[in-house]
Amino acid sequence: KTEPLILGIETSCDETGVGIVRGQTLLADAIASSVEEHARFGGVVPEVASRAHLEAMVPTIRRACETAGIKPTDVDAVAVTSGPGLAGALLVGVAAAKGLALSLDKPLYGVNHLAAHVAVDTLEHGDLPKGAIAMLVSGGHSSLLAVEDITEGVQPMGSTIDDAAGEAFDKVARVLGLPFPGGPYIDKAARDGGDRLYVRFPRGLTSQRDLERHRFDFSFSGLKTAVARWVESRRRDGEDVPVNHVAAAFQEAVCDVLTRKAIDACKDRGYEHLLIGGGVAANSRLRQMAEERCAAAGIAVRVPRPGLCTDNGAMVAALGSELVRAGKAPSPLGLPADSSMPI
Ligand code: KG4
Ligand code: ZN
Repeated sequence: KTEPLILGIETSCDETGVGIVRGQTLLADAIASSVEEHARFGGVVPEVASRAHLEAMVPTIRRACETAGIKPTDVDAVAVTSGPGLAGALLVGVAAAKGLALSLDKPLYGVNHLAAHVAVDTLEHGDLPKGAIAMLVSGGHSSLLAVEDITEGVQPMGSTIDDAAGEAFDKVARVLGLPFPGGPYIDKAARDGGDRLYVRFPRGLTSQRDLERHRFDFSFSGLKTAVARWVESRRRDGEDVPVNHVAAAFQEAVCDVLTRKAIDACKDRGYEHLLIGGGVAANSRLRQMAEERCAAAGIAVRVPRPGLCTDNGAMVAALGSELVRAGKAPSPLGLPADSSMPI
């Protein structure tokens, strides 16, 4: 029996993504991004994102089908991100998915964006382990999730109480005069001779007192402010700001907290697997530190390749495929978009 052919649509933020998978095999991952339209605002503008999705949606579906060498009528089910995300952006993807499912007379699966970030790893490493902690770090979210069985959803253990990890990278990059989105530029600046011990920036929510209430939560806004203050005082004194060193020291603070809390979550649940996803999973220092610290703790790390870590349609198709393979019931065609969808 051949595996089901699933088309997945992602429009929760600024990427219009359409992925096509058969079983756990990726056939196409077409993407159109409006990131450049947002760059001059220094962040994603919801209205701009929605309009860009509307224009890119059908061409991106067509491009994915061409790449996969299939016709839309070959598809066995349509999956779509129904939340969480920007309300107006989600509506475009959900409406498109419904129209497609209706016209093809195929089932529709509304999926959770965070669960999809986890499921995408099946395309790289096959079946997910039974029992894993997933750490999702991107411009929009920073969460620790417990995952027993991805087709049953994910359980939140903690998340950021202010800025997302990627947001902190982007804001600090701005302070340092680096382009948007800043994560990759900070990563590169740090690798180009940055001294990560140059300054010790604060590690949010790691004091004994904070750990009692926020053991698995993150806070990056204090760190961002600390970096901004440090840079300002240097400039006020007329001194040069060593961008590479500041980038490395900031990155070290973020990665230290992320890996410490992720490993603590694994220990708390007795899980021996840590999965990392989201745009910040591309960070070279985060990958290196996670490998080292997890190896010491007897935990196996799974990180999908960078192209699958950022928002894309393949992750939605991957989760849809797991749901179909597990025999789960589809969503009603009245499926709503839920911008603040609980996990
Ligand atoms: O998952 P993603 O593409 O979109 C969402 O925000 O959902 O993540 C984008 C975020 C941005 O904040 C970007 O600066 C960050 O991921 N990012 C990185 C790196 N590459 C992308 N942050 C740190 N290091 C990187 N190499
Ligand atoms: Zn995401």
